[in-house]
Amino acid sequence: MDARQILSKLRRAERPDPDELSWFGGALASGAVSDAQAGAFAMGICRTPLSEAGRVALTLAMRDSGDVLDWDMPGPVVDKHSTGGVGDSVSLTLAPALAACGAYVPMISGRGLGHTGGTLDKLEAIPGYTAEVSQARLREIVGDIGCAIVGASQRIAPADKRLYAVRDVTGTVESIDLITASILSKKLAAGLDALVLDVKTGSGAFMKTAEDSRALAHSLVATAEGAGCRTTALITDMSQPLIGTAGNALEIAEGMQTLTCEAVSERLWDLTVALGGELLALSGLADTAEAGADKIAGALRSGAAAERFERMIAALGGPADFVGAWRRHLPEAAVVRDVFPAEAGVVARIDVEAVGLAVVHLGGGRLRDGDVIDPSVGFSTLAGLGEMVSAGRPLGRVHAASDAAAEAAAVALRGAYLIGAAAPDLPPLIHERIAP
Ligand code: URA
Repeated sequence: MDARQILSKLRRAERPDPDELSWFGGALASGAVSDAQAGAFAMGICRTPLSEAGRVALTLAMRDSGDVLDWDMPGPVVDKHSTGGVGDSVSLTLAPALAACGAYVPMISGRGLGHTGGTLDKLEAIPGYTAEVSQARLREIVGDIGCAIVGASQRIAPADKRLYAVRDVTGTVESIDLITASILSKKLAAGLDALVLDVKTGSGAFMKTAEDSRALAHSLVATAEGAGCRTTALITDMSQPLIGTAGNALEIAEGMQTLTCEAVSERLWDLTVALGGELLALSGLADTAEAGADKIAGALRSGAAAERFERMIAALGGPADFVGAWRRHLPEAAVVRDVFPAEAGVVARIDVEAVGLAVVHLGGGRLRDGDVIDPSVGFSTLAGLGEMVSAGRPLGRVHAASDAAAEAAAVALRGAYLIGAAAPDLPPLIHERIAP
């Protein structure tokens, strides 16, 4: 095949055939197309959306451009993907709870992107934890413990690595087709039997409107199913941080309190059991999503999930006693102070993206490639939508490396909160469920 013919079709606003897209997906990794051709391809797809069959073909070719894991486990192999948000620590509670219910979870996770936090950055707040393991070790840990949260090796979906880098510099990230192929090529390379997608919507989401989030969720579910993986999606709220903390070690701390049932964060609990319930139902470990949710809740309440988490942390290089002694192991910031609102009132709106960016500027995320993260910084006790704030109830507490950084973050947090006189309508945690 010839890239020029495919690009000419896109120029004429004609859809390439699935076999042409399949060829292009492979050519991205083999080097048979240049960066200029990859950029023109991405721009063409932004202008001429693909058919469902075309999207499946491109996704499968990108998945197959690198290693595709296969498993021989006594239970189903499952995973969750979230489109990213602030204070979203569901992976920490969900992966071990699923493992305790008989699923096997090779959770290949990412780092923070833009204003959103990344599961690997959070876990690396735990001393000794390493997200980089060989495939052989990943198999061993998943086989023994049932779950491992790790990073993607260079050999997973190299076509996506190349195309993503090109999209990043050609203004072509925002295409539902390309986002779908990018996310799923990596997830499906983990050899899953079932997948649940947490598509966020609201001011802290990648997709900010209900319409865009719904379109992405439909595209992801149809493409994953077309590629042979049982999948459902929940569209969930990101118009406030999921939990009361934002920042790596701080989110681990709040996650540990929910995982051990010491002090449960309600929204984290509800989302964990809902997503887990979907996966248990999809993979045959529960009759319905509701029955699955009950099982996940049981695994959290009994301590079985916490026990899996502790073993996973130890297997990945962290302390052997983390669940009982997390307070001793997590780093603490030098400066911790409350941030009060300019005036008393009710939290009417939160610019969650601005909260996430404030964490990045504190040093909790990366402003450029290679930046070293400070795991101790961020916010805790964040007020939620509809909560009263005043000189007695702060917007939140900032954790910073210096007084100057704390002050800058306090200004940013005040700017992110709109305080009103009346309580706003509270959005539901789960807006919609998208099934094939
Ligand atoms: N996350 C991905 O992995 N790819 C995209 O294109 C967007 C978000």
